[in-house]
Parts: sequence; structure tokens; C-alpha cells
Amino acid sequence: MITEIMGTRLAILLLMSGAGFIILEATAEPQFTAMYVFGDSLTDPGNNIYFNYSVTKANYWPYGIDSDIGPTGRFCNGKTLVDFIGEFLGLPLIPSYADTAAKGADILSGVNYASAGAGILEETGYHFGRVIPLGEQVSNFKTTLNQLRNQMQEEELSNYLAKAIVFVDMGANDYLNNYLLPHLYRSMTTYSPQQFADLLINLYTGHILELQSLGLRKFFIAEAAPIGCIPFIIGSELAPSGKCQNFSNNLVQIFNSRLKPLVYNLNSDHPGSVFTLGSSYQLFMDLRDNAEAYGFMEKDGACCGIGGRKGACLPNTVPCSNRDEYIFWDEAHPTQATNWILATWIYNNTSYTFPVSIQQMARM
Ligand SMILES: *[C@@H]1O[C@H](CO)[C@@H](O)[C@H](O)[C@H]1NC(C)=O
Ligand SMILES: *[C@@H]1O[C@H](CO)[C@@H](O)[C@H](O)[C@H]1NC(C)=O
Ligand SMILES: *[C@@H]1O[C@H](CO)[C@@H](O)[C@H](O)[C@H]1NC(C)=O
Ligand SMILES: *[C@@H]1O[C@H](CO)[C@@H](O)[C@H](O)[C@H]1NC(C)=O
Repeated sequence: MITEIMGTRLAILLLMSGAGFIILEATAEPQFTAMYVFGDSLTDPGNNIYFNYSVTKANYWPYGIDSDIGPTGRFCNGKTLVDFIGEFLGLPLIPSYADTAAKGADILSGVNYASAGAGILEETGYHFGRVIPLGEQVSNFKTTLNQLRNQMQEEELSNYLAKAIVFVDMGANDYLNNYLLPHLYRSMTTYSPQQFADLLINLYTGHILELQSLGLRKFFIAEAAPIGCIPFIIGSELAPSGKCQNFSNNLVQIFNSRLKPLVYNLNSDHPGSVFTLGSSYQLFMDLRDNAEAYGFMEKDGACCGIGGRKGACLPNTVPCSNRDEYIFWDEAHPTQATNWILATWIYNNTSYTFPVSIQQMARM
């Protein structure tokens, strides 16, 4: 019965967002010319699946169980945060960089370079075999830029780039898959938490400014999520029952606390460009604290996982059936239902964006 009601609730929400999309299509040009995405598993559309030696791939059932396109490599049962943002913006589904079939006109609405397990530091996620660190994602954008040069004159290209949105979501893996694994990485013994955050911010700033120097002008930068609240951490002995683990949350908050001043400085140093910050951390905490009000009955456990709350979602694991009532799809990633709420909030709600929402940035 409850499932029935919740199913209806989501159907209505999805219908509403679908209707909004149709109106946008009919009455307006897309608000941005394109979307270029740099990120980790929260935004990866399947860039790792072509690497034979990568273990961070999600191109098998039951990933994509609620998607018309099935398992693609997205770490979700359906759409990711950027899939929804793209829909709100009236853009077609953004192809992954590794999808070599996407050429010519296909890349005009943008390209997604995100890679699960990747971070700002080159070595982050190294133990997964192969991931695409932020620096390499930026290099890959340069390859796209050369392809765009074949399709547009210089002036047209610079107008096009200036009206594209850049979505960047990085940093969480530099903790989860680097700093917090001292048996594999030396960062924790080398740097204090403050020094490590400074190191990340310096490199991050360099990569963002490189994209800006290539002609991109509108940047949405997402904070690192509260990694101490993912089932992998919560379901382990690392956190008291039902609580997030403060140790890892506090570490990412040191990084996040440096993003607001960074965005402030980037805006004042680069007039003509817009940089905006999404408060993903607070957003996620607010969603978690009000989970029931949003229809989530399970906020700590994963919908798909072998051996209880923290287990991985391995091939052919039977997932929960009431997926819209779970915040988490697998041991580290949100469900489509969660992504929809996160996407609407950062798209539209200035309580979670600084200094402007994505919608406001589109009009600037
Ligand atoms: C991956 O493995 C396939 C099948 O064995 C092979 O054809 C392909 O060349 C490999 N790709 C890379 C990048 O090594
Ligand atoms: C964890 O952090 C929360 C929020 O900052 C705080 O209320 C709580 O007391 C902390 N718990 C421990 C064990 O430090
Ligand atoms: C944006 O906000 C308005 C209310 O302020 C809401 O009606 C609308 O559905 C929101 N759009 C999206 C895409 O979430
Ligand atoms: C925006 O977020 C704030 C804080 O959670 C909330 O109180 C407000 O209702 C939200 N506004 C909209 C239009 O959703």
C-alpha cells in the first residue's frame, strides 16, 4: 500500500518534470548551448567501461534497472544528477567521452568526461586499476575542442563555449579512495587534513582555470558529498549505528569550507565568467534529516548490496523492489529518486547555491 502511494508520488513528480521539459522544448531555446561534465561516479555515464583493467564499472544488471537504456556504466538504478540537470535545461542526453560513436553533431550538446573512482589527484583511485583523473579529463576536453573547431568558425565557437555550462563534481574520492586508505596511499601520513585540503584546492583551481582559459565561462562546482553517510561507511563498524561517521565527514568539510572563498575569488578575478557553488553537503544532510517527508523509508542501507548494508552491488544481485523509498542505490551512490530531488534543488533553489542557481546562471 505504502509502495503504491510512493510509486504514485514519484510518477507525478516525474510527470511534472516531463511536462516542464516539453514546455521548454516548445517555447525556448536551450538555456545553455551545451553541458561539459567533469567528475566522479556521481556523474559518470560509463567512461570506465572501455578500460579492461578497471574495476570501477557499472555496466551490468541491476544497474540501470529503471532506465530505458539499461545498464550503461552509470552508478545508479536510473538517471544521474547531471542527466536530470540536462533535462531541466532542455539538452539531449549528454554522450560520454569514451563513446567513440558520439561524433560530429552528437557532441554539440556537450560531452561527459566523468570517471568513477577518480579524483583531483592523479593517483586517487589508482587501486581500481584505471580511472580518469581530473587532469586527464581536462586533456580529453581539449580533444573535443579540436573536433568542435572542425565544425565551427572561431567566433561562433567562442560564443558557443561562453554559453555552455561546465559541471564539476570532484574531491570526494581524494578522501574515500586516497586519504582514508593509509595502507594504500601515503597522503595521510604526508599531509595534515588542512595541508591536504590546500593541496586539492590548488590543483582544483588550476584545472578550473585551464578550462576557463580554453573559452568556457559558466561553471557549476559541486561540493564533496558527506562520505561519512554512505552505506559503505555507515554499515561498517566505522560508524555508530544509524549515524554518519564524523571523522570522514569532517575531513571533506575542510575541503568544502575552502570552496566558497575560491568561488568568491574566481568571480572577482574573472569578470565575464560566472562560477557558482552547489552546497551538495548541506543539501544531502537536509535530505537525510527529512528523509520521511520526501518519501524515503530507508536512509542508511543500500537497495542493492550483497551481505547487508555495506555490500557491493555485484552482477545479478536482486535489488530491493521499493527503490524510490531508498536514498542509496548501492553502497556509495544515490538512487534515481534521490538524484531527482538533488537536481531540482541545485537547479532552482538559491538556498543551496552560491552566488546563483543554475537557472539564474543560464540567464547571465
Ligand atoms: C580490451 O580487451 C579486448 C578483448 O580482449 C581487446 O580487444 C582490447 O584491445 C582491449 N583494450 C585495451 C585498451 O587494452
Ligand atoms: C558528530 O558530529 C555531529 C554534528 O556535527 C555532532 O552533533 C556529534 O556530537 C558528533 N559526534 C561525535 C561522536 O563526535
Ligand atoms: C523550480 O522552482 C519552481 C518553484 O519555485 C518549481 O515550480 C519548479 O518545478 C522548479 N523547477 C524544477 C526543474 O525543479
Ligand atoms: C529551498 O530550500 C530551503 C531550505 O531547505 C527550503 O526551505 C525551501 O522551501 C526551498 N525552496 C523551494 C522553492 O523549494
